[in-house]
Amino acid sequence: MNRFFFLLILIFLFQCKVDNPLNAEKKSNNEEILSLTFILAGFDLQEEARNKIGLLSQVVPGSENDTREQIVLGEKIFRDTSLSLNSVQSCSTCHLLNGRNVGTDGQATSLGTFGQSGKRNTPSIFNVGYLKTIFWDGRKSTLSEQALLPFVDASEMALGSTSDLLDRLNAKTEYASLFSAAFPKNPTIQLTNVNDAITAFERSLVSKTRFDDFIGGNPFAITLQEKEGLRLFLNLNCINCHDGPMLGGKKFVKLDSKYNYNKNDLGRFEFTGVEADKYFFRTPSLRNVEITPPYFHDGSVRTLEEAIRRMNEYEAPRTITEAEIASLATFLKSLSDKSKVNF
Ligand code: HEC
Ligand code: HEC
Repeated sequence: MNRFFFLLILIFLFQCKVDNPLNAEKKSNNEEILSLTFILAGFDLQEEARNKIGLLSQVVPGSENDTREQIVLGEKIFRDTSLSLNSVQSCSTCHLLNGRNVGTDGQATSLGTFGQSGKRNTPSIFNVGYLKTIFWDGRKSTLSEQALLPFVDASEMALGSTSDLLDRLNAKTEYASLFSAAFPKNPTIQLTNVNDAITAFERSLVSKTRFDDFIGGNPFAITLQEKEGLRLFLNLNCINCHDGPMLGGKKFVKLDSKYNYNKNDLGRFEFTGVEADKYFFRTPSLRNVEITPPYFHDGSVRTLEEAIRRMNEYEAPRTITEAEIASLATFLKSLSDKSKVNF
């Protein structure tokens, strides 16, 4: 339906331009026909990308009953530094949300509340509601299983126990009314409510992108250059691992030994204990990748181009050229949150 509609408009515009002698001076007919062919080719790409990558569901799974009040409470907890042992760090110290930030902090690996160093790069928390595996090693599978861990993690907010967390929430008078507004049926400050508020807030962080507009129906939402990059993305097997509407976030892959990664991090093995899982890490989602450097589980890669170059060591059918790397990078920028970058 969409396709037919745009085709009609294009043919109409094309006719107008060809008939207009002023336009004819500016551009030769050949050029017009060429650009029209390019645009029409875009329809096939649109359909292929929609079939091979898929549309992100409009509703984040599990968010059906999330309320505005729960999201507000979740955000307040997320930003509250008094919930770390020395009252210095909050979730948003590492998962920054202001300006262009989508929940990363630009560090290779983040420091905990006492400056203690962690070993992994902080992932974005935008679109995490769509993930089926949580963390670089996939040791959790739902946001709920994750939400309370950072408060008591010695390398993060370092509280002695979750009851310390509840004491701190009780000590601040403003929380009582926020909890009763968020959970009217069960208005106490308790861990399940803290958990539900944080996860409701996380599920509310969804990026709108030009790429989604493109596969969702608008053939002009991405540029010709970005379309060329998308064509490469499909042809060079990137979707073998960066698959589905999240463009990653599922498949576990072993790192190539050619590069000097942090060898102290054994990846998925650290949680499964299975020898075959050593150095396996989750393929990251490529949503917002432009604005979340540095890259890889240990933050060892500084630029988007270098990250793509390293993909030569995975399943690329042939060596990816420098021009193709640039083109792929151009495409990946269409996956940025529109409200975070200027378009
Ligand atoms: C010290 C920095 C730091 C703090 C503070 C922190 N995080 Fe994280 N967060 C990380 C790092 C690093 C990872 C990845 C860890 C891993 O994969 O092993 C992560 C992973 C996550 C993930 C999983 C994302 C994914 O792609 O799988 C979620 C969700 C998350 N954090 C939410 C939170 C919440 C909620 C809080 C506060 C209660 C919080 N974080 C506090 C650094 C931090
Ligand atoms: C065999 C699976 C596989 C294929 C194929 C693959 N990737 Fe990756 N990609 C990964 C894994 C795994 C990582 C994370 C590596 C790490 O953390 O050390 C990654 C990381 C990236 C990153 C950095 C993302 C971040 O947030 O750290 C970019 C960009 C990227 N890939 C782009 C591509 C492109 C473009 C292609 C196609 C040319 C491609 N990938 C093909 C598995 C793959």
